[in-house]
Amino acid sequence: MTIETEPGLWLLTTPSSAYAVRLGPDGGPRCAHWGPPLTLDQARALPAGPEELPVEGGDRFGVAGLQVRYGDAVRGVEWRHLGHDIEGDDVDGGHLTIRMADRHYPLEIDLHYLVRPDSDAVDRWTTLRNIGDGPITVLRCDSAAWAVPRREDYRLTHVTGEWGAEFQVRRTALPVAETVLTSRRGHSGHHANPWVMLDAGDATEDRGEVWSAALAWSGSWRITVERDHDGRAGWSGGFGHEGVTWRLGPGESLETPVFTGVYSAEGFGGAGHRWHDHIRRHVLPAPGRVRPVVYNSWEATGFDVSQARQMELAELAAGIGVELFVVDDGWFGGRTGVFAGRTGETAGLGDWWPNPDRFPDGLTPLIDHVKRLGMRFGLWVEPESVNPDSELYRTRPEWVLRQPNRRATEVRDQLLLDFSRDDVAGWAYARLDELVTHNDIAFLKWDMNRPITEAGDEVWVAYIRNVYAVIDRLRAAHPHLTIEGCASGGGRADLGMLARTEQIWTSDNTDAAQRIAIQHGYGQVYPACTMGAWVTDSPNALTGRPTPLAFRFHVAMSGALGIGGDLRRWDPADLEQAKHFVERYKRIRPVVHEGRMDRLGDWAVQYTLDPHVVVLSWRPTTLVRVTAPVRLKGLDPDGRYRDEDTGETHHGALLMSHGLPRPWPFDATSELKRLTRAG
Ligand code: DGJ
Repeated sequence: MTIETEPGLWLLTTPSSAYAVRLGPDGGPRCAHWGPPLTLDQARALPAGPEELPVEGGDRFGVAGLQVRYGDAVRGVEWRHLGHDIEGDDVDGGHLTIRMADRHYPLEIDLHYLVRPDSDAVDRWTTLRNIGDGPITVLRCDSAAWAVPRREDYRLTHVTGEWGAEFQVRRTALPVAETVLTSRRGHSGHHANPWVMLDAGDATEDRGEVWSAALAWSGSWRITVERDHDGRAGWSGGFGHEGVTWRLGPGESLETPVFTGVYSAEGFGGAGHRWHDHIRRHVLPAPGRVRPVVYNSWEATGFDVSQARQMELAELAAGIGVELFVVDDGWFGGRTGVFAGRTGETAGLGDWWPNPDRFPDGLTPLIDHVKRLGMRFGLWVEPESVNPDSELYRTRPEWVLRQPNRRATEVRDQLLLDFSRDDVAGWAYARLDELVTHNDIAFLKWDMNRPITEAGDEVWVAYIRNVYAVIDRLRAAHPHLTIEGCASGGGRADLGMLARTEQIWTSDNTDAAQRIAIQHGYGQVYPACTMGAWVTDSPNALTGRPTPLAFRFHVAMSGALGIGGDLRRWDPADLEQAKHFVERYKRIRPVVHEGRMDRLGDWAVQYTLDPHVVVLSWRPTTLVRVTAPVRLKGLDPDGRYRDEDTGETHHGALLMSHGLPRPWPFDATSELKRLTRAG
């Protein structure tokens, strides 16, 4: 990792890529290169390309990532270069700040770049500073714009979806147009996810150039991908959706979230490797922390939570090797003889104490029971929400997010607390801190089951910042706490959330056959150790599809395994089989979570942590007419690999060229192969 500079030129180098910026003829910062490594001498020969942060003004007619209006109603920016700073070291990375300003108005604009010695990611973000004595209106401030070098053609890769069907990969020709990927919902969303990839239409899983970027933001966001009539392509992106403005008062500054870019010359698979490594090393809050095998009671009991039933489930969960037992929604609220609390969707959110009708002596008897069984204990919370039928709402109606003269929209019978208020965030922290301090809680599932509505301009950003602040404070006070992020499944999966949670609840759809595509999309950017994946009942509660237990396990074992079925309905043979799979999972967990992940087509995945190799392959239905063997990747061609279950040995070269046979061609068949390089 290096940052080299000479007047008007900056070159950032990562282990396998380089990024160069130079000042253009108008004095503005422009992208000169984003691709393979270069020397400073080579970078010097490159012209200044598209703007690093396209502004409004002059003869620019494309997407403006920075739009401002000054007190006299004049808009736009005319660039003036002030200087630069370089700081950092070889461990935390080098941080370049290119300091810019408007030529006339009192606005300073810092463009930030951060590179690290062991990551191919380039972090970029922007800071605006009002150094005048009147307010400036910020109409749009993106984190960064990323320009892709000129190619004959371009292809866009992104994910789309909905509740229960998140992260569906779409790969389409990029039109000569502006393509907007966005969430206006106040969370990163089920319908899109804040990352984007472009290639020249020629990249494959293993070969070709891919340019990608992901935003570290968990609220509304917008990435506008542009292919113009001159044949250029790139994107600008940042927090907030269109129309949301920000008042920058005198002396105030606005810092955007980080927008991280990754260049891969090794196709989409190579992009995935770089993202996974970067997130595991530099984004996750506690790198290397082992994800426990979780049991979660949601699909088993729904809102019908009782101490006795949870204790019964805990015993069964412990019996199959579960390490952490989580009580989901329905444990809280209520006052004996006064109101019932959280017994369904319509009441109790906001009242974060154990329901005395359900837990007459608090949570301690259940927690002690769980601990005696050798497991740790976790709890579901949804701190941002409130039901109108709750004690919190009755005492603090003014805490709800709403606007004068507007209806307060209810979604799932709930309203949101105005988390942009420091008193609300302070209250949420105090409740959670009290819960975790007074109960032996090792794990929180932090859910958010409705979008943000009726929010004023500045709430959209301040709300998310306070969500972050509460989680950060909680983690600092309870460093051993593990947190799972959730928003009705995978509605808030992004680098912002992953910076403060160990894992994400990927989807409420736990049908193993449908999960394969959801997990395929999730894993394009986010690593397997963060991908919450439960084994639930058959037939599946959402889709009605019956599948064998082995298939359900083999799909869930490719992430952070959990069990979410009603174990009281599993017969002894199922429980015995489940115990066997949990044992096997614990053996492969370090390889799945820390190893390199290679997708072997759509129906198999390989994890390699030399000398260990794990291959999971699935055939969800016989309609998937994939008959060719599963060919492995990245092995030592001269090595021999021993099958840990059969004792057979295979040549590395043959595993890569001829492969392993596919699982038997019936519906819902699957296989786990564990190989170890023997020499
Ligand atoms: C939505 C989550 O995705 C589910 O797993 C569950 O926690 C419910 N909320 C509880 O209300």
